[in-house]
Amino acid sequence: MGTGSDIAGEIVEIGHGVAKFQKGDKIVAMLGGLAEYVVVREDMMVIKPYEVSAIEYAGLGTSALIAYQCLITAGVKLDKTGPPMNVLITAASGGVGHYAVQLSKLGNTHVTPICGACNAAFVRSLWADEILDYKTPEGKALISPSWRKYDAVVHCTTGVNWSTFNNVLISKERVVDITLSPSALATFTMKKLTCSKK
Ligand SMILES: NC(=O)c1ccc[n+]([C@@H]2O[C@H](COP(=O)([O-])OP(=O)(O)OC[C@H]3O[C@@H](n4cnc5c(N)ncnc54)[C@H](OP(=O)(O)O)[C@@H]3O)[C@@H](O)[C@H]2O)c1
Repeated sequence: MGTGSDIAGEIVEIGHGVAKFQKGDKIVAMLGGLAEYVVVREDMMVIKPYEVSAIEYAGLGTSALIAYQCLITAGVKLDKTGPPMNVLITAASGGVGHYAVQLSKLGNTHVTPICGACNAAFVRSLWADEILDYKTPEGKALISPSWRKYDAVVHCTTGVNWSTFNNVLISKERVVDITLSPSALATFTMKKLTCSKK
């Protein structure tokens, strides 16, 4: 089963020298594809836990891994050894965002996800501390319900200008943007060149 990002399925044939897997193993592999049969390197796959369906797992690897990388880059320590952090996650009901919300709560974090009103209950169930609806004035301005400023942003949506972050961030924050646009890239370059902390 493929989603275009990962492959989940059953091994039908083993290549020469493969030691860790055998025919019949249910596996998931980090491999873009939508084919019925694929050839996968041994070090690119793992055994699929039985409680997760092939459909669920085929969509998990890439989204969850990107969410994990975003949080590590943002400075969140997922073993709670880091300082307390306020984290904003945009598009929190989406593929990457909903993993970012759950993983971020493994750290010493207060998490404010933004999503549509229809997904608020779902996102709240992922251990979010408070929720923002992106269609409200506060949501558009990224203002936390508790007026907290953010130490880090995991930015998973287009349509929010980087300048919106200026008013809601503390001075040494990090914005990790997976939807990088030309204007965001230009802003990032300017901030680097001018040594701006924001
Ligand atoms: N750089 C990379 O490697 C990489 C990898 C994967 C994805 N991406 C990009 O990351 C973005 C997110 O991908 P995804 O697969 O996680 O998303 P997705 O599953 O398609 O979900 C998009 C989400 O965006 C939310 N949304 C729409 N407008 C919003 C706004 N103004 N503020 C906050 N949330 C808003 C929607 O929320 P509601 O449904 O609640 O309304 C929806 O849940 C896409 O632009 C994608 O191209 C980049």
